[in-house]
Amino acid sequence: MKESIALLTSKYQQFGIEPPKFHAVLGSGLGLALAESRTAAPGWKLAGELPFKDVPGINPASAPGHSGVFKYFRHEKSGHAACFQVGRLHGYEGLEPSDVVRPVLASYFAGTKQFILTNAAGSLHRDFGIGSVMLIRDHVNLTGKNPLVGPNPLGPDGKERGPRFPDLSRAYDRELSAELKKILVEGKFEVHEGVYLGLLGPSFETPAEIALFARWGLDAVGMSTVWEAIALKHAGAKLCALSFISNLGCGLVDKPLDHDAVLSETSKSAKRVVDALFAFAAT
Ligand code: HPA
Repeated sequence: MKESIALLTSKYQQFGIEPPKFHAVLGSGLGLALAESRTAAPGWKLAGELPFKDVPGINPASAPGHSGVFKYFRHEKSGHAACFQVGRLHGYEGLEPSDVVRPVLASYFAGTKQFILTNAAGSLHRDFGIGSVMLIRDHVNLTGKNPLVGPNPLGPDGKERGPRFPDLSRAYDRELSAELKKILVEGKFEVHEGVYLGLLGPSFETPAEIALFARWGLDAVGMSTVWEAIALKHAGAKLCALSFISNLGCGLVDKPLDHDAVLSETSKSAKRVVDALFAFAAT
């Protein structure tokens, strides 16, 4: 961890930025819009890029649609910086939760305190349609794993990062979520709030599983986010999260699911989501 923090800190100096005020994780498809453009929103300038593979202790990304790079932007007016993490790591790549959370934790310990986690997710009911966004009010972690298993993880100062049994009653910060909601509504998105179900994957759910999860009252399902949220909250970060609804859960429509369809649906609105995140970072 110390080496990755030192590298991030030296990169901030090289790129002429302060530690970013804000770090956004762009999940499946959402990162592509940003990956393809040098500057994604007026008023922001790309200050530098850092691929995961160049950071000691961070695994390179292997999932389709996830390049695995930190992109740093400077807001021309205020001078503050934002980090957009294009792509993320997942448990289904064969990684442990502690590997998956390393990119966001390195950023946290290098000085960034606010995070927004995004993902593509399947809707568990028809009220949350394709192309809508869901602010994550709470989550259910059914991955069977947790990034805090083992001795209570230590921070770079050698002290415990947080409590042994961290409270998750407000993992997703209400104020930050409300600010993000305002910007998404201004961006003309259909915005919902709900509970995200995190699973290990990589197989999509069966129709029976989707029917069960829907009966439990959950709203959207995906293969990411919950470990990052737990680790960040444990360490003391402020975070919020959103799901981009890329498909209806398996069995809700009579059509097989495939990841390319998820990516292509997300990419249609990816630029607008990313623009909303830049607007959020500028506040
Ligand atoms: N299930 C799990 N993960 C997903 C889905 C889904 O339907 N869509 C996008 N990520």
